[in-house]
Amino acid sequence: MNRAGEVLRFLREGPGYVSGDLMASRLSISRTAVWKILRHLDRMGYVCEKLKGKGYRLTGAPDLLYPWEVERYLETRILGREIVYKDSVGSTNGVAFDMALAGCREGACVIAETQSAGRGRLRRHWRSPYGKNIYVSSVLKPALHPSEVSPLTFISCLAAFDTLASLGLTPTLKWPNDVLVKGRKICGTLIELSVEPEAVAFVVIGIGLNVNMDDADMDEEIKGKATSLFLETGNRFERARVCGMLLNNLEKYYEVVGGRGVDEVCRLWEERANIRGVSMEIVQTDRVYRGVSEGIGRDGAMLLREEDGKVTRVIAGDVSF
Ligand code: BTN
Repeated sequence: MNRAGEVLRFLREGPGYVSGDLMASRLSISRTAVWKILRHLDRMGYVCEKLKGKGYRLTGAPDLLYPWEVERYLETRILGREIVYKDSVGSTNGVAFDMALAGCREGACVIAETQSAGRGRLRRHWRSPYGKNIYVSSVLKPALHPSEVSPLTFISCLAAFDTLASLGLTPTLKWPNDVLVKGRKICGTLIELSVEPEAVAFVVIGIGLNVNMDDADMDEEIKGKATSLFLETGNRFERARVCGMLLNNLEKYYEVVGGRGVDEVCRLWEERANIRGVSMEIVQTDRVYRGVSEGIGRDGAMLLREEDGKVTRVIAGDVSF
């Protein structure tokens, strides 16, 4: 946590007004340095009330995903222990990928308030209105063979699923990487990776979770197809808290990868998605598969029993039921 984060922690812990002298002595910095930090916080959107002879009291905070705000909710060992925060970025996945190439630590995250070129699956654009949702990418370095890496997409879906469920929603999972509420998409995940011949060098897991977005933030293409926590509940959510919960859950499922392995991740995803025995259609650019799901393969592929009784492994596509 940086100095601004530490001063904020003092102000939040209170109780009541906190004197500048106390903060200066606790942080081993001068009274002037504390004052400069308070001025900096003011410029970042925090509101502090000053009472002569008593000190400062925090009365307002911006709904921004500053690293120290997210850190308040983190219970992780590796994820989010380094956070790169950007007001605006092309794609958080792009920044995280470059950081990983430059050798950043495992668990480093990139969080942005908006993305001008948010990447979706199948080269689609991910709409990223400013200050409304969560756009986060995490760098992981799992000890996996490249052939085992696909199910990692499930850990991000499971993390979003648990986060939404603990906020009172009833999410559903759609293969391969969507999280829906009442049939509308609330979260999408995108995995990008760098592989060596026999091992995965690193994986970037990007998650876009719609939090406070409302209809006015959506263009015609996604209206009626997308939703958010706000649209589902009528309540605004503190994004830093939701982001912390999401990263806590992501680490929980990442630990399953290192522990019981990717098979267990597939099993958990399949259980939550309740997919076995369901009739579906999977559309690819040049092909349509129809059949009944026999579950998920060890590589994350959909196992589809087609009308001729043959089981086909489908590795990508858009599912409809
Ligand atoms: C999808 O098409 O469903 C995947 C969407 C993934 C969007 C997230 S937002 C954070 C990260 N950065 C990106 O550019 N994409 C992912």
